[in-house]
Parts: sequence; structure tokens; C-alpha cells
Amino acid sequence: MTAKPAFGHILNVADARRAAARRLPRGLFEYIDRGSEDEVAIAANRRQLDAIRLAPKVLVDVSRPSTAVEILGQRLSLPLVVAPTAVAGLVWHDGEIALAKAAAQAGIPFCVSTQSITAIERIAAESGARLWFQLYVWQNRQRMLGLLDRARAAGAETLVLTVDTAVGPNREYNTRNGFGIPLKASWRAGIDVALHPRWAIGVMLRALATGGVPTYAHYPEEFRTKLGRVTLSDEVALAADVTWEDVKLLRRHWRGKLVLKGILRVDDALAAASHGCDAIVVSNHGARNLDCAIGPTEVLPAIADEVGDRIEILADGGVRRGADIARFLALGARGVLVGRAPLFGLAIGGADGASHILDMLSVELRRTMAFLGAPDIASAARARLA
Ligand code: GLV
Repeated sequence: MTAKPAFGHILNVADARRAAARRLPRGLFEYIDRGSEDEVAIAANRRQLDAIRLAPKVLVDVSRPSTAVEILGQRLSLPLVVAPTAVAGLVWHDGEIALAKAAAQAGIPFCVSTQSITAIERIAAESGARLWFQLYVWQNRQRMLGLLDRARAAGAETLVLTVDTAVGPNREYNTRNGFGIPLKASWRAGIDVALHPRWAIGVMLRALATGGVPTYAHYPEEFRTKLGRVTLSDEVALAADVTWEDVKLLRRHWRGKLVLKGILRVDDALAAASHGCDAIVVSNHGARNLDCAIGPTEVLPAIADEVGDRIEILADGGVRRGADIARFLALGARGVLVGRAPLFGLAIGGADGASHILDMLSVELRRTMAFLGAPDIASAARARLA
């Protein structure tokens, strides 16, 4: 890979993160980057990944490496999926379309978030990506099913139900920064935006000039937040009474693959399998929700052992290097979701910036696999823990 000149100085995800911190208003950057409460879990996710060391197997022919893998019936070029992340369309003009284009270029799917700024119909029409759709259950289940019908009609093949967000997480930095959806005007936010003119012009003014104040595109028209409207309706508020009954409802209603995201226990993984789910994502939501949550790498091996032969196991949380992907694979994941890393790339260069991140992760993964004596993903999955 030769870096495009614009990104020649971005040699890794950490570089992109620092550049994104300069480019984005602080409220938006921290919303993407940080954890919750005292940010114990986010540090633990990193520490636990770093503690996983792999034993290289020597004298293996790695001259024809392949990172191809089949996930949920789809042949992918990399064991990666671009994770659903709220409000990517605030990070870059038409940010969700840009992320989807980068995913398509990398040969991997893009998972559209319920809380997307751009609707799935436009993302599908303008990106050519394979789309998954992430769902938060709304209090009004009929409206939720209506949204699913839209996603299916737009071509989403896989439904990812987020099951780890029974209540809104406590992120005090958002309160301090005055950041939230609906976007609200405040002195603090105004100064933050003024200090980041490239973002102000490239994203906010462009949005105002074309579609108005950015908001959640998937919410029913009558509830969408317009300037001046303060709260979203309860009907499309996150439901706190989501149970396995909802999984049954979705399993009946959704004809494509069904994935539960946010599983951290063997009993829940077994229940997902017995409810007919096709996959789970072992995840603590990037350490953004429950600050005392166990880390995905701590529970992944046991979950993979118990249910890996019944459903596909994906995982996520804190991937910054190709080696982190290899770590998750060695612990039993078939594929890995990346959320923040491509957002950092998006912030500094739209689709090209996100592509640059995915390219770097791919190059790093290949190098790691070669050192491990793993010419393909199946052998990477068998890499021995040191
Ligand atoms: C949404 O899912 C978030 O983590 O902010």
C-alpha cells in the first residue's frame, strides 16, 4: 500500500485519531472517542487486548496470503465489518455514504445505524455497498417493524439488533460539552464550532445549505427534530422493556440474517442460538455503556467454545491495529467490527480517509498473519496464545 499523498503523515490509527481531534468540534470528537462514567472499561478493553500475546509459528510459506473469509454467507475480503455508529453524517458531509463507499472498496459490509443522519435508501443508492442494518427497539414496535421493512426494501441483508442499551448511558462529557441530538445552540457549542472552521464549513454549513439541521433520518417524519423542536417522541425513544419476546418477533418478521450485538455471557449466547439468531457480536459497546462491564476478550473464548458450532461469533471493542484483529480471531471470533477507527479516517478525509484506515488495518493484519505463520484466516484463527 502506498499512502495517498493527503494521508502520507497518517501512519496508523492513532495518528488519524489525533488528526480527527484537531478537525472536529470537541463535543463531537469526544462523543465518538470516549467511554462512559469514569472510563474504566475503555482502558480495560485496551489493556486486555494488549495482554493477549500470540506465539508465532515459523517456517510456514506465507508468500500467498489471503484475508478472505465467509461471514453470514457473504464472501468478504477481510474479516471486518464497519460497525454501526450514530451520527457519522456529522463527522463528514454525507458521512454514512462515505463510510459505505470505503467499506465497499475494502470488500466488507457497512452496518447502517438506526441513528444515522442519512437514510438507508440514499446510502444504498449512492454507495454500492453490502449493507447491514442496526436496530434499536423503539417503544412503538409497529413503527420499528415499518423501519425494518424500509431497510429490507433498500437491500439490507443482515439485521443487527443492539441488545446492550436498555437505558441511556451516562456520558458526562456530553453534558459538559452540550452535545446531543437534537443539536442545541449554546455559547459553548458555538465557540467549539467557530474554533473548527473546516468542519463548520465542510459539514455544518453544507448541511444547512442542503437539508437543514442534521438529524436522525430514520425517525418518522412527524417526530424528526427540526430546529426548535426539543424532544423526540416517546414512541421512537429506546425501549427499556426489550426482551427475548422481541427477538422472537424479529426472527418471525425479518427474512435475512439476524445478529444480536452486545452479548457478554455464555447463557445469553446460548439463548441467541436457541432463538434462531445467526450470529452474535461479543461486545461491550466499545466500552461506551456500562463502565463496570466485563471486556469482550475476557468472555470470547468461553462463548466461542460453547456456541461457536451453532452460530457465528463476531466481536468488537477497541481495534486500533491489525494485530488487534488477529487477537480477536485467535480468541474465537470469525470477524471483527470496527467503529471508531474508520470514523477517525472519515473525519480527516471522507471516504478516502476511511479507506486509508481500512487499508492500513488490512496491511497490518497481513503482516501480523505472516509473522504468525498464518497464510489465511483459518490458520490465523488457530494461532496459539502465548
Ligand atoms: C450509540 O450507540 C452510542 O454508543 O453512542
